[in-house]
Amino acid sequence: MAQSAAYQKGEVAPYDLGRTYEPVAKPLDAARENEAQRVYPMYNQLYLGDVVSTLQMWPDGLFDACMTDPPYNIARDRKGLSWAFSSHVTIDSDWDRFSNTDYEAFTTAWLQEICRITKKNGNIFIFGSYHNIYTIGAIAARLDLRVVNSIVWAKPNAQPNITCRMFTESTEQILWLCNNTNKDAKHWTFNYHHMKELNGGKQMRNFWEIPVTPMRERVHGKHPSQKPLRLMERLVLAGTNPNDVVVDCFAGSGSTLLACDRLDRRWVGVERDEGYCEIAHRRLDDERKQRRLFPAML
Ligand SMILES: C[S@@+](CC[C@H](N)C(=O)[O-])C[C@H]1O[C@@H](n2cnc3c(N)ncnc32)[C@H](O)[C@@H]1O
Repeated sequence: MAQSAAYQKGEVAPYDLGRTYEPVAKPLDAARENEAQRVYPMYNQLYLGDVVSTLQMWPDGLFDACMTDPPYNIARDRKGLSWAFSSHVTIDSDWDRFSNTDYEAFTTAWLQEICRITKKNGNIFIFGSYHNIYTIGAIAARLDLRVVNSIVWAKPNAQPNITCRMFTESTEQILWLCNNTNKDAKHWTFNYHHMKELNGGKQMRNFWEIPVTPMRERVHGKHPSQKPLRLMERLVLAGTNPNDVVVDCFAGSGSTLLACDRLDRRWVGVERDEGYCEIAHRRLDDERKQRRLFPAML
């Protein structure tokens, strides 16, 4: 897409310094169910709504890429444990609690919708931990999607293990899929040279050592699984091009959206929790205010 591509009516371009970013985030009309009634989402907009019913409203092949961090199903059948004085936040929320069968059905439903609304051969990056990544991988295999890579995010400052009954869990995985069959997948975006340059001239490996989300990124409110911007920015740079349109259907506190906004990609988010939408809005708003104050950052 050309750098000068026109913005939709009502859309606030990320670099339009003359206008204030005022997110809408209104629930969409869930009555639209069939193809004939599909509507285009507004770019650079976070939608408050349920993942499957929201994605179902959007037309086929709209997005260049998907970057998303679905529920991990960690809260499943456990009590959240955390250090009393730790800044880490434990996931113990209803949105993260499924039976195994329900989790598989839910994952299949949203992944199929993501495949429909993402362009052929577009990148799909899915975050997960050992709790859910194998289930997601099995579903991707069942859908005959090409796995390009799996990236390991290693956290040098991971939360200590309270139980002392196992190794300290200090990694998460990012499953990189190409939106096509194993046989036909081709020409996915990978900014190889950019990654090599970032890695001091050496080929970048799939083991990324990046600390957990710092406190300064949590000043607008806490989300239990907020991803660090350094991680999201690297992924955006690796797997998308400027002006690409990226969807995050589990936007949480908006880390994907913010990374896209900074790096001149367009974004669309879906999140069903109003409180998390507000955190994301505050983060995006703050970022854009700073851009206005310090235009040299452009
Ligand atoms: C793992 S978190 C994403 C965190 C995000 N990457 C960040 O950096 O803040 C998953 C998010 O999905 C949302 N969610 C869970 N079920 C959902 C559903 N059915 N529809 C839309 N959002 C949902 C949760 O509210 C939660 O914020």
